[in-house]
Amino acid sequence: MADDLQEKLDEQLRYYRARAPEYDAWALREGGFDRGPRERAKWFADIAKLERALDRFHPSGHVLELACGTGQWTERLTRYADRLTAVDAAEEVLDLNRRRVGDGVRYIHADMFSWRPTETYDVVFFSFWLSHVPPERFGQFWSLVRTALAPGGRVFFIDNLASPEAEALDPEHPGSEEGSVVRHLSDGRAFRVWKVLHRPKQLVADLGELGWDAAAHRAGHFFLHCRATPRGDR
Ligand SMILES: C[S@@+](CC[C@H](N)C(=O)[O-])C[C@H]1O[C@@H](n2cnc3c(N)ncnc32)[C@H](O)[C@@H]1O
Repeated sequence: MADDLQEKLDEQLRYYRARAPEYDAWALREGGFDRGPRERAKWFADIAKLERALDRFHPSGHVLELACGTGQWTERLTRYADRLTAVDAAEEVLDLNRRRVGDGVRYIHADMFSWRPTETYDVVFFSFWLSHVPPERFGQFWSLVRTALAPGGRVFFIDNLASPEAEALDPEHPGSEEGSVVRHLSDGRAFRVWKVLHRPKQLVADLGELGWDAAAHRAGHFFLHCRATPRGDR
């Protein structure tokens, strides 16, 4: 069973490596993700809500970005961070991030399910990543986040929301297993990836069980943002 899960995680990573050159179309609502001007306006209004929430959180100090992708949010983090380290398992994605942001960012090529941080950080940030963590690895992932935090450290993340509007945005077919979907690249290649959409209230409860104090909020129709600190870490 464990091997089966690893195979799926490998497939998910292969998908993001192959998708690197076309990834930004999703965030920018272009090409196959274009649903017309009204939907685009709603999307960017919600992105602006996430940006304001990030601004209020103010991720300063030494910041660690997990699964940084092509840099959509890395660039925003540089406005607040004193030092920024960005990690991803896809070299193709890291290359694009380096080209977009590069200066002053330390990049680490590592797999989130085996990486062990060798230092600690004031802030751990991740965007649109938690929904790709299978439920079986949720606890393990949060242990990694805990290990990466310095005393008094804080976590902030954003993701798609479990909502009819957010689900309608994903044009792909649901997979046979809960939380798994089939995604296609523009050349037609198909990959199975995890897409576990969370609801703010349940997320706070799940994180509470793992020893985190969390506050999660929906941002408009499509997204949620969440801040968390390890309980008792004051
Ligand atoms: C949905 S994208 C999010 C990227 C970026 N955070 C953003 O918001 O644009 C998911 C990212 O996770 C990375 N990824 C996939 N599997 C990974 C793994 N096992 N370890 C680390 N990163 C992984 C992919 O390369 C991709 O950049």
